[in-house]
This record gives sequence, structure tokens and C-alpha cells, in this order.
Amino acid sequence: MHNPEKKSGLIKSSEITDRDIFRNRRAIIKASMALGGGAIAAGSIAGGLAMANTETGAGGDNGFQATDELTAKETATSYNNFYELGTDKGDPLRYANRLVTEPWSVVIDGECDKPGTYTLEDILKPHPTEERIYRLRCVEAWSMVIPWNGFSLADLLKRFEPRSTAKYVAFETILDPDRLPGQRSRVLDWPYREGLRMDEAMHPLTMIATGMYGETIPNQNGAPLRLVVPWKYGYKSIKSIVRISFTETQPPTSWNMSAPHEYGFFSNVNPGVSHPRWSQAKERRLAGKTKGVSSLFAPKIETQLLNGYADQVASLYEGMDLKKFY
Ligand code: MTE
Repeated sequence: MHNPEKKSGLIKSSEITDRDIFRNRRAIIKASMALGGGAIAAGSIAGGLAMANTETGAGGDNGFQATDELTAKETATSYNNFYELGTDKGDPLRYANRLVTEPWSVVIDGECDKPGTYTLEDILKPHPTEERIYRLRCVEAWSMVIPWNGFSLADLLKRFEPRSTAKYVAFETILDPDRLPGQRSRVLDWPYREGLRMDEAMHPLTMIATGMYGETIPNQNGAPLRLVVPWKYGYKSIKSIVRISFTETQPPTSWNMSAPHEYGFFSNVNPGVSHPRWSQAKERRLAGKTKGVSSLFAPKIETQLLNGYADQVASLYEGMDLKKFY
């Protein structure tokens, strides 16, 4: 990946419009708080693993409802990283229709008692969706605030009855080089792969997104289902998932394989640990008012440890020095 400070990746101003997002935010938060409560309760039944505090305390949103200004939908759906569709920020939107999402199925395999090939309908049917507003911090040092629609990954994984030998979960994106222009270049070793430790995967904040901004998730953002792990750099949030495998050992992951010294397996957002080629102390926030500018010109803000989710997830990393760990 490239540092946006050194590369233009410009979006055309004509592609970005202001949508009164800030004004609508309060209504959105109100509506989704009611839904969020149920989802948090559902997330907390995931077997015996470290869980966030499930009480919605006064003023506390437990990480499910960031109150930062939302990124304009037009920005979040036109300034993307989805290398299967090309490496320019505008390529994923430009080539979005090359990704064919119907029919779609997901292979579930590895250390579980209910492996199989599940249709998208099988996967999604039991899961009511809710809205969650999460910060998304890319390792390239830009960030967005996105209202996702989806459900906790834990609720999906439990259905496949993972065995006690399942210590990690691995994910794969669709492989379709005939259609996906980016897969004809060797920029990564396809298919795109990611993985989480089991306790990270079962954390209630970890979600499967099927929508954003109250609409079906667009292809460029990872239709029909993608992972969202808000305390980790964005490359962990793998798009267009076709395979989920329960593994005993840490699975190989795409960016880590391509440059292990630059992209860690854990990849927890940490302002104190620089990428070898740039600092991670600050980020360019693409917010609602960021009309027609690339991340180069977005306002710089301080990056937060674990992307602001330390209260919820720091306990997952007990014994690790969070100041040094990435
Ligand atoms: N998933 C796949 N399959 N391919 C990718 O290139 N890019 C990652 C992640 N998921 C990527 C991917 C990176 S680097 C980021 S920052 C986020 O997707 C960007 O998500 P967005 O385009 O929805 O903002």
C-alpha cells in the first residue's frame, strides 16, 4: 500500500456532494441505539470469550456508535481500496460491475462440526441487521466514519460449531481473474486473505457488514459480505468473502505475506508504532464536510490507540505492551 502523503489518489469534486450528514447523525444514532442494545446482548452469548461491557451506560456507546462526524456516503463509496478492482482509489467504483455477486456462496471448513458450502441466503437469513457507526483507519493514514449495517461475526461463526482446536479464523475473497482486472496483476498473491485470532473474531465489535448508509453494501465496498474490525488497520477488513476456515495455527494473510515488516498479522491501530515508511501518529479524516478533496487535503487528527476502541478490546492483548505492539 502507498502512503497518501506521497501519492495523489485524487477524487473528482463532482463525485462528492454534501448530504447534510451531520444534521442527520443524531436521528441515526437515536434509531440505532435501540437496535444496538439487542445486538450487544446477542453478541455476549458467544462462548466464554473476553467480551466488552454490555451495559449501555450513561453517555457510553460501548464502541458501537461513534459520535464523530460521518464520512459522506459519496466519499466512502468512491475512495476505496479493493485491489482486485485496481490499485487507484477510483478503480473500485470504476470497475465495480466486474464483481458478480449473484449467485454467491461461502465455503466453511476447517476445525468445526458444521462445514459445508452455504448459499448467501443460508448465511444471512438468521441474522437481523443493525446499524453500527465505526471509525475505519487505513494503514495509509487516512480514516473515515461509516454507518455499517450488519451483525456480529460471532453470531455467524457459532452456527458452524467451531471446535476447541479452532484458534484462528481465516477469510478469503473471491478469485476471478477473468473478470476482476486487478487480479491480472501480481500486486498481491491472490486470493486476498485475512485472519483473526478466535477471541478477536468472537468479540462483539467484530462484524459482518452487508450494508452501509442504510443501503445494500456497494460492490466497491465489498459486496455481498465483508468483515469490519474497527480497532485494526483497514486491510484486516476483508471484502467479498467466499471462504471462512477455522484453523489451529495462525493463517497466512495477504499484506503480511507481501511485506511482513510493514504489515503485521495483528495490525492493531497504534499511533506509537510507525510504519517503516511513515508515522502513524496522525491521520487524515475524510469527514462529511470533506467535499471534493483527496485524503491529502483532509484535516489531520490524532490517531487513537486501538482506533479509540481500547476500552472495549485492550483486554484481548493482556500481557502485550500496547505502546510497542502492532
Ligand atoms: N479486501 C479485499 N478483498 N481487497 C482489498 O484490496 N483493501 C483493504 C480492505 N479490504 C482490500 C480489502 C484496505 S487496505 C482497506 S483500508 C479497506 O478494505 C478499505 O475499505 P473501503 O474501501 O470500504 O473504505
